[in-house]
Amino acid sequence: MPEKDPEEIRVFAPATVANVACGYDVLGFAINAPGDEVVVRHGTKPGVHITKITGDGGKLPKNPGQNTAGVAAMDLLRHLGMTDRPVEMEIHKKMPFGSGLGSSAASAVAGAYAVNKLIGEPLTKRQLLPFATAGEASADGAWHADNVAPCLLGGIVFIRSNEELDVSQLPAPANLWAAVVHPDIEILTKVARDILPADIPLGNATQQIGNLGGLLCGIIQEDYGLISRSIHDVIAEPRRQKLIPDFYKAKRAAMAGGALGFSISGAGPSVFALCEGEGTARHVADAVSAVFTAVPLSNQAYVSRINPRGVHVIDV
Ligand code: HSE
Repeated sequence: MPEKDPEEIRVFAPATVANVACGYDVLGFAINAPGDEVVVRHGTKPGVHITKITGDGGKLPKNPGQNTAGVAAMDLLRHLGMTDRPVEMEIHKKMPFGSGLGSSAASAVAGAYAVNKLIGEPLTKRQLLPFATAGEASADGAWHADNVAPCLLGGIVFIRSNEELDVSQLPAPANLWAAVVHPDIEILTKVARDILPADIPLGNATQQIGNLGGLLCGIIQEDYGLISRSIHDVIAEPRRQKLIPDFYKAKRAAMAGGALGFSISGAGPSVFALCEGEGTARHVADAVSAVFTAVPLSNQAYVSRINPRGVHVIDV
């Protein structure tokens, strides 16, 4: 006998670091915290209804068509021919907007994943990718899965094609840690995308492709030296660093503290360092945090292994 659909599902969707320096729009990884939570339950009125949003400072619309979690959930139900299925949704934001931590992606993933669970899991996690990507695209107007895919699947995810959502999960080296620091300013992804050039010189493209290939090989071969030599971004970072106070000071502090590499997390303002070992990651996080504190900018630091799990159900 099929199991009865659960009454209520609460899910956690983790923060993600997109781009990972040289993989603009095509590489990302998940960390353990922070992350957003979404609760769904069977409703009484047809369609998706967002009944409660916390942690957003009143900024997010409850209209599900204007909300990444709602768009992802509705897109999924439309695909399944279940547009009228009554669903109530609560969104609990646990990370800031415009932070470079994949906040809108986390809500989109949580929305699609939670509703899929509520209705008896007709699709696999991987099959949810287009709906979660559509949810995120509704926020920043661009179609890229470098936050959504690692948030959904966990681990380090490489995207060969965003159009086809052809994604591969890479095994994370056992001792690879991330230090992520979020300075308290907001950068709109759209603004950070608009300052990038439409065309890039062939020399820069060649460098970037070499570094991306090197980073993927370094991850697969657990070669920390190769990872370190590859974490360079000659395309987005030189333009976007202007939006982040004392970015290069923070980078120097991270590298002096033993980081393998350092760059902007997604569209910023968060920054990240990859490190070999937890001790180094903690030390680097403290060093970078001290730079922002001196600006002065309040900031939050997160130290995490690569999160292998992605979105998952948590206890109600
Ligand atoms: N790849 C995206 C960007 C991530 O850098 O604009 C931010 O959503």
